[in-house]
Amino acid sequence: MDAHVWPLYGLRITTPRLELRLPDLQALEELAAVAAAGVHDEARMPFTVPWTAASPRERARATFQHVLGTLAEWHPHRWKLSLAVLTGGRVIGRQDLSADDFPVTREAQTGSWLGLAHHGRGFGTEMRAAVLHLAFAGLGAHSVTSAAMTDNPASLRVSEKLGYAPDGLTVTAVQGRSRTLRRLRLDRAAWTAHRTVPVEVHGLDTCRDLFGR
Ligand SMILES: CC(C)(COP(=O)(O)OP(=O)(O)OC[C@H]1O[C@@H](n2cnc3c(N)ncnc32)[C@H](O)[C@@H]1OP(=O)(O)O)[C@@H](O)C(=O)NCCC(=O)NCCS
Repeated sequence: MDAHVWPLYGLRITTPRLELRLPDLQALEELAAVAAAGVHDEARMPFTVPWTAASPRERARATFQHVLGTLAEWHPHRWKLSLAVLTGGRVIGRQDLSADDFPVTREAQTGSWLGLAHHGRGFGTEMRAAVLHLAFAGLGAHSVTSAAMTDNPASLRVSEKLGYAPDGLTVTAVQGRSRTLRRLRLDRAAWTAHRTVPVEVHGLDTCRDLFGR
């Protein structure tokens, strides 16, 4: 993909085992296939927008449209960076970093998922650490937030390992049921104190204006 018009296609974040980048159409097809193959135990919906409660074909299409939608709707004051996560050249999931009015608030949010076959091997921690590095070291964030259902121990544990502090609860309706989300917040000092994953960011300077920085 030509990075001249949309320099975010030149952004790369690497960790010892992972590469995170904006997916071109080929990687997006791969990401859609990973979503189609399954993202979580069907008995438990981890998302507030229940996009996975659909057929494999619909999950694939939702994934495809989600990423392209983030590009179509991008604005320096309201952006969602939706990155494909690759290991050994294969797409295994998605890691998002988003913000509204980032130059003013200096706060961003994360969201993520991995194909079910890739859970429980530390990738979730590594990919979150990757975008935290982009946010704090690359973009000068003051804080990054996350939220997970109270019955999502894997996501909560990833946040705990990376130093997030409890930030209250949100009760919301998902699929007609009341669900409780645990909000979490990581400030710069706690991020610094809990950094264990080496991360490198390449190609950020040509996209800074897109982040409003
Ligand atoms: C959340 C997610 C990205 C985490 O990725 P992952 O690669 O499985 O996470 P990691 O392996 O890095 O870490 C998971 C941690 O949770 C722990 N964990 C997992 N399941 C657990 C359980 N049932 N009870 C207690 N701890 C659990 C693991 O032991 C590990 O902690 P440790 O390193 O201290 O042993 C992945 O599980 C996922 O995609 N889930 C479905 C989608 C989702 O929930 N997205 C987040 C929505 S908020």
